[in-house]
Amino acid sequence: MVISKTLQNAINKQINAELYSSYLYLSMAAYFDSQNLSGFSNWIRRQSEEETQHGMKFFDFLNQRGGRVILDKIEKPKIEWGSSLNVFEESYKHEIYVTKLINNLVDLATKEKDNATLTVLHWFVDEQVEEEASALEIVEKLKMVEDSKHGLLMLDAQLAKRGQQKE
Ligand code: FEO
Repeated sequence: MVISKTLQNAINKQINAELYSSYLYLSMAAYFDSQNLSGFSNWIRRQSEEETQHGMKFFDFLNQRGGRVILDKIEKPKIEWGSSLNVFEESYKHEIYVTKLINNLVDLATKEKDNATLTVLHWFVDEQVEEEASALEIVEKLKMVEDSKHGLLMLDAQLAKRGQQKE
């Protein structure tokens, strides 16, 4: 069954949102690099790569369903943050926003009784639980270390490991 035009448009918007997320996280990685925090940069750069994969998951799905992928302009991301905590608070807030977008897509696919789209979206619903939890965990840890440079460097060393072992 060919996907409806309404869902096609909504998924195209979501592709843009996922690619924007990737771009935003890449900008956060550049910020951490400028702060010499290579572990934080590594973590968020991996996150950026995951967001591109999310966009591509929708991209491939839309093609499989006979839809047309239409790419749009990607918004310019922010480039400066006040602190590491500030970055992760924003990343957490951003994930909550993305969860809302996914939930809106679920509502739309439910209304259209499009079960194939719902199945793909359920993967994203689960993924969002993880994404929110991992961003929040880092927010909490950064709050714990407060102004301790030692604590910040320990956390940096921990986040450097993402992607170097089985997650
Ligand atoms: Fe693809 Fe972090 O949402």
